[in-house]
Amino acid sequence: MRDVAIIGVSQTKFGELWDISFRDLISEAGLKAIEDADIEGADLEAMFVGNMSAGLFVQQEHIASLIADHTGLTPLPCARVEAACASGGLALRSGIMAVASGYHDVVISAGVEKMTDVVDPTPAIATASDQEWEAQQGVTFPSLYAMMARRHMYEYGTTREQLAMMSVVNHKNGALNPLAQFPMEITVDQVLNSSLVADPLRLLDCSPVTDGAAAVILCPAEDARKYTDTPVYVKASAQASGTIALQDRKDITTIDATVHAARTAYNMAKMEPKDIQAVEVHDCFSINGLLAIEDLGFVEKGQAGPAIEDGLTERDGRIPVNPSGGLKSRGHPLGATGIAQTAEIVWQLRGEAGKRQIDGIEIGMTHNIGGTGGTAAVHIFSN
Ligand code: COA
Repeated sequence: MRDVAIIGVSQTKFGELWDISFRDLISEAGLKAIEDADIEGADLEAMFVGNMSAGLFVQQEHIASLIADHTGLTPLPCARVEAACASGGLALRSGIMAVASGYHDVVISAGVEKMTDVVDPTPAIATASDQEWEAQQGVTFPSLYAMMARRHMYEYGTTREQLAMMSVVNHKNGALNPLAQFPMEITVDQVLNSSLVADPLRLLDCSPVTDGAAAVILCPAEDARKYTDTPVYVKASAQASGTIALQDRKDITTIDATVHAARTAYNMAKMEPKDIQAVEVHDCFSINGLLAIEDLGFVEKGQAGPAIEDGLTERDGRIPVNPSGGLKSRGHPLGATGIAQTAEIVWQLRGEAGKRQIDGIEIGMTHNIGGTGGTAAVHIFSN
């Protein structure tokens, strides 16, 4: 297997983007990544695009062909990759495996979702859960994560305020991210007084409904310096699956897929949690940020609440979490999230993260979840 490097990244502005179409959104991300890598479109040998549900959000399937066509890249082989909200992480992993295996040299892995063109996105999002046992019984994602939050509060004494702090820290970082959907600071009081969505989760515990796209360009590590002075190296690419329905878990306060993917990633990279200097975690709801910090091994089970309260996850803390603002503040266009997380870690490792730059960072991680943990992708990068 060959080592793999990232030589270009991009992210579009995230938000409610009514003046740009699905096809223009993904094209913008792709072209920006190509520019960032200083290559030509003709240099690309394959494209993988993470997307959860263009069929339900914009009534468009066969998006691989659409994108290759619209970007003028035909006959480039292009494939859509779907694993709910982890689609981006898996598109990245598909690109990495294509380069590592020697099958292709220069590959683009991208992600896109346009969620705001439907009146109510909730039924489309709910297709990532178990239809028979969850969605058709009226359970939605906010309510699934609300149950996980309640159980975590019961088992470990996690407080409502500690959940709110996850959102507060995310927004503190996101306020410095010009590409974020909600780039403003918030307070614990604002979270606690925001409208109730699914008890105990409130509006400001939830990631928003978002339009957005992102892309990365990969090549063999040995060729990376032909393209850039600041390559970022893929040290580990891991994926694991877990039960799709919450009811089938032994413990709903642990996401086993995260634990397994993290263990594989640490083994591949020959690293431990203490080696990671920044992590982008999948905080689709505040509780999932806490679960991620625990399941990735940064703190003991049940200790994420106190850790966040003590400032451990702030940009100058022991393990900076979500320097981009995370899903809560940057936004969560489902299929694009795993790639946007990667773009943030690459900018951090290249020292290009502007006002939210973490000093001296050399190793970063991304953590991307599908559903309530039916899929997890964990990647480790170094500069
Ligand atoms: N954070 C901060 N502000 C938010 C927000 C969020 N997550 N979601 C919406 N807002 C703001 C809007 O900008 C709007 O502000 P305005 O009145 O100043 O214009 C206001 O809150 C109401 O927005 P609206 O779109 O009507 O909210 P909603 O009640 O329809 O939706 C949620 C709110 C939380 C239900 C929706 O964002 C949601 O479903 N989020 C979860 C998405 C999800 O499940 N993703 C997959 C995870 S696995």
